[in-house]
Amino acid sequence: MYRTHLDQNRAPIYEALETFRRMRVVPFDVPGHKHGRGNPELTAFLGQQCVGVDVNSMKPLDNLCHPVSVIREAEELAADAFGAANAFLMVGGTTSSVQSMVLTACKRGDEIILPRNVHRSVINALVLCGAVPVYVNPEVDQHLGISLGMQREQVAKAIAEHPKAVAVLVNNPTYYGICSDLRAIVRMAHDAGMLCLADEAHGTHFYFGGGLPVSAMAAGADMAAVSMHKSGGSLTQSSLLLTGPKVHAGYVRQIINLTQTTSGSYLLMSSLDISRRNLALRGREVFHKVADMAEYARQEINAVGGYYAFGRELLNGNSIFDFDTTKLSVHTLDIGLAGIEVYDILRDEYDIQIEFGDIGNILAYLSMGDRAQELERLVSALAEIKRRYQKDGTGLLDQEYVEPEVVTSPQEAFYAEKISLPLEESKGRVCSEFVMCYPPGIPLLAPGERITDEILEHIRYSKEKGCSMTGSEDPDLLRINVLA
Ligand SMILES: Cc1ncc(COP(=O)(O)O)c(C=O)c1O
Repeated sequence: MYRTHLDQNRAPIYEALETFRRMRVVPFDVPGHKHGRGNPELTAFLGQQCVGVDVNSMKPLDNLCHPVSVIREAEELAADAFGAANAFLMVGGTTSSVQSMVLTACKRGDEIILPRNVHRSVINALVLCGAVPVYVNPEVDQHLGISLGMQREQVAKAIAEHPKAVAVLVNNPTYYGICSDLRAIVRMAHDAGMLCLADEAHGTHFYFGGGLPVSAMAAGADMAAVSMHKSGGSLTQSSLLLTGPKVHAGYVRQIINLTQTTSGSYLLMSSLDISRRNLALRGREVFHKVADMAEYARQEINAVGGYYAFGRELLNGNSIFDFDTTKLSVHTLDIGLAGIEVYDILRDEYDIQIEFGDIGNILAYLSMGDRAQELERLVSALAEIKRRYQKDGTGLLDQEYVEPEVVTSPQEAFYAEKISLPLEESKGRVCSEFVMCYPPGIPLLAPGERITDEILEHIRYSKEKGCSMTGSEDPDLLRINVLA
C-alpha cells in the first residue's frame, strides 16, 4: 500500500452518499428529476443507483464551493495520497484545474514561461487573465516529428531574459509521455522567485507507480493539474488541482470559485473519492501491470516491422529527461500512412478506438481497464493494416510542431477588432482565434500569432488527412478570424 498519514481506506463523499441513500430523504430541492422518478427514460438508461445519488449540495453532503465536512475530508485524503499540501476536487475537467492554476499565479500583464506545445486550456487561461506568454520552443525529434520537453538551457535563458516572469509551466509529461527535467526546472524557477506549475493531465499515475517519472509534487512544484479521469480511473470531467506548501489555499479556492459551478456533481466527486482510494491502496500494483502491458505491446509492434513504438531508448538527459512507460505511442510514417489515417482505419475497420493519431504517430491509451487480449487485438490489427495499406510515403508531412511567430498577447488578440477572411487569403495576418487538431488539442495557431505559409500548409494537410479541426468560429475552418 502507498504510505500516507491518513486512513486511505476511507472515502468520505462516497460514504456520505451511501448514508444519504439509506435515509430516503424526500427531495423538495434540485435536481428536478427527483432521484430519477421524474425522468424514467434517463433512469432506465443510467440506472437507479446512479440517478439516486445525482443530488445537490446539502449539509450532510457538504458544498464544493466552500467545503467544511465530507468534501474537505476527501480533499485532505487526496492531498495526503498525492503528497500535496492541499488538493481541490474539480468538476470542470482538467481544463478547470489548469485554468485555476494559471489564474492563481498570474494577473494581467504578468509574464509566464511555458512551452508552446501546451494544451489549449493553458492559452485559454492567458486569454482570461491577460498574462503574457514567454514561449520556450520545445526541442523537436526530427524523425518522429513530435515536440519534446523543454531543455534546461532554454528555460534558464528564458528566466534570465524575463526575470519578472511570475511562473514557469511544464507539461509533465507531454501527451506522448515525454518529460522535461522537472526537478531542475523547479529549482531554477524557485531560485528566480517564480512558481513552477505542472500540467499533469497525463501524469496522474506518476504519483503511484514504481519506475515512472517524478510527479510534480515530489519534484517540489507549486501547483499541478491532474487528470484523474484519464489514468486515474474516475468519471470523465473529474480532475484534481494540487498545491504545494507555498501556495495560499484560501486564495486558490477563491480563484476556483470565479468560474466553478455552484452545483458540483456528486457523481463526479464520488468518483474522485473512490478512485483516489483505489489509487492509494492499489495504484502501485495496477500501474506496474499497465507498464508491463505497454512494454509487451511495444515489443510486439516493433516486431511487426515498419512501425516504431518508442520508449526509454529515446532518453537524452535533457529534452527527453524521462519517459512514461505506460504510454503506447507508435510512429507510422515508415509504412507510408499518417497517424491520423491509421487512427481512422483502426476505428472504421477494426472497431478499435485509440486516443489519437496525428501527422506521424498514434497513441493508444493504456490504463487500469486494459487486458492482454485487447492488446493482442490492437497488435494484430496494426500488423494487418501494414499488410493491406502499406504504401510509399512520398508527400507525407513529417513534422507535428510548427514554431509560432507571436505578435500580440492572446488576450489582446482575442478581444481586438477582427475580420473574417477566407483561409487561403489569410497569409501574413495575425490570427485572433485558435486552430487545432483535437485531440491532442495543442494549438497550431493561438490568438496573436502570425498565419504563415507553413501553418496554412499544415492546416490543409491535416484537413485532407481527416483530423478534426477545432477552435475556429467557422466550424468548417474555411474562414478564419484575423486582426482587422
Ligand atoms: C495536456 C492537457 N492538459 C489539459 C487537458 C484538459 O483536460 P480536460 O479535457 O479534462 O479538460 C488535456 C486534455 O486532453 C491535455 O491533454
